Amino acid sequence: MTQHQPIVQATRDIELSIIVPTFNERDNVRELIRRLGSCLAQVSWEVIFVDDDSPDGTADLVHEIGRYDHRVRCLQRLSRRGLSSACIEGMLSSSAPYLAVIDGDLQHDEALLPQMLEILRNGDTDIVIGSRYISGGGIGDWNRTRALISRCATRLSTLILRAHLNDPMSGFFMIRREAFYDTVRKLSGIGFKILTDLFASSPRPLRFKELPYQFRNRQVGESKLDHHAVWDYLMLLLDKLIGHILPVRFIAFTLVGGFGVAVHLLALTLLFKGLQTTFVTSQTIATVVAITSNFALNNILTYRDMRLRGWQWVRGWVSFTLVCSVGALANVGIAAYLFRMDTFWVLSALAGIIIGAVWNYAVTAAYTWKKPSVE
Ligand code: GDD
Ligand code: MN
Repeated sequence: MTQHQPIVQATRDIELSIIVPTFNERDNVRELIRRLGSCLAQVSWEVIFVDDDSPDGTADLVHEIGRYDHRVRCLQRLSRRGLSSACIEGMLSSSAPYLAVIDGDLQHDEALLPQMLEILRNGDTDIVIGSRYISGGGIGDWNRTRALISRCATRLSTLILRAHLNDPMSGFFMIRREAFYDTVRKLSGIGFKILTDLFASSPRPLRFKELPYQFRNRQVGESKLDHHAVWDYLMLLLDKLIGHILPVRFIAFTLVGGFGVAVHLLALTLLFKGLQTTFVTSQTIATVVAITSNFALNNILTYRDMRLRGWQWVRGWVSFTLVCSVGALANVGIAAYLFRMDTFWVLSALAGIIIGAVWNYAVTAAYTWKKPSVE
């Protein structure tokens, strides 16, 4: 590394940044900082809490502590959610040569940090991982379903990983700055699994070591890992497998659209056959139901990280409905034109559907779920 003349007299020289993603962890913040302070007494470190504007005021507390303790920083993100993206942005905001990621709820064992740092300092390792699935490690008292999901996700990860990791689902690791920077532009940033993302995206195999630790039980607050995490994980896998051909949001959008056809037929059958409503009324109501369910599903799955709520939801629904109506007209118009030009009817219909879907996707991406504006 080249030595630069400092612009101002250096006041501190940080060797290690610890990135802590947080959402509603106010009651764990002080204890985590205290523990970091005691196990890293010999190290020059800082901690960066990346908080997604937690309603419990986590960020306010971190700012309050940061005012008198310069080792403590807060990166507050507005109108955003996402564990991986929080970790990535936290790492990007650091200038230290070594970057660690650790949960903010005290479930990871911070006592490993000095050892992780020592291994990286020695030079022949890019990343050290806290692992629950090697001898000496463990998962605490997780219920059977959670343990099973974790195992399945670990198996599936072999589809995209280019290394044999025992615990690719771990959210606890320390990485050398250069290894992170070589990879950062290729990361998907989707969902919870930042470590899997790093290994699947790195342009060259990462030299890694795993250290065992016992995953502790959470004492305060609650886990944010819910069934959505499974969807996010599948999206991460898809993105890494075929994301270079098709954007993963488009795939999700199309899946939701396919499901919408089933919703439409179900509503139509209930109204037309079950309630004896006229066909035109049944078809009209079924269309509105399908559009609404498509909008709601896309809002919680495809655009989970920029989910619309309250009035934004209503505004989003209106714009989604308008855009999809134009999409439907384009679909029918193009299919009808091709059919008149003697194209096989199935091909005409498919062309109409594809163009309608691409239109709906592209325009709703720009107008319905446009990038958040801070209000
Ligand atoms: N900024 C931000 N944004 N932080 C988040 C978000 C988010 O959307 N969701 C969760 N977090 C924070 C939590 O506040 C916590 O500090 C940490 O990320 C982990 O979230 P938990 O909700 O406690 O997850 P978990 O305990 O079920 O799972 C964790 O441990 C596993 C084992 O290491 C995660 O780190 C998993 O990725 C990991 O596999
Ligand atoms: Mn946790």
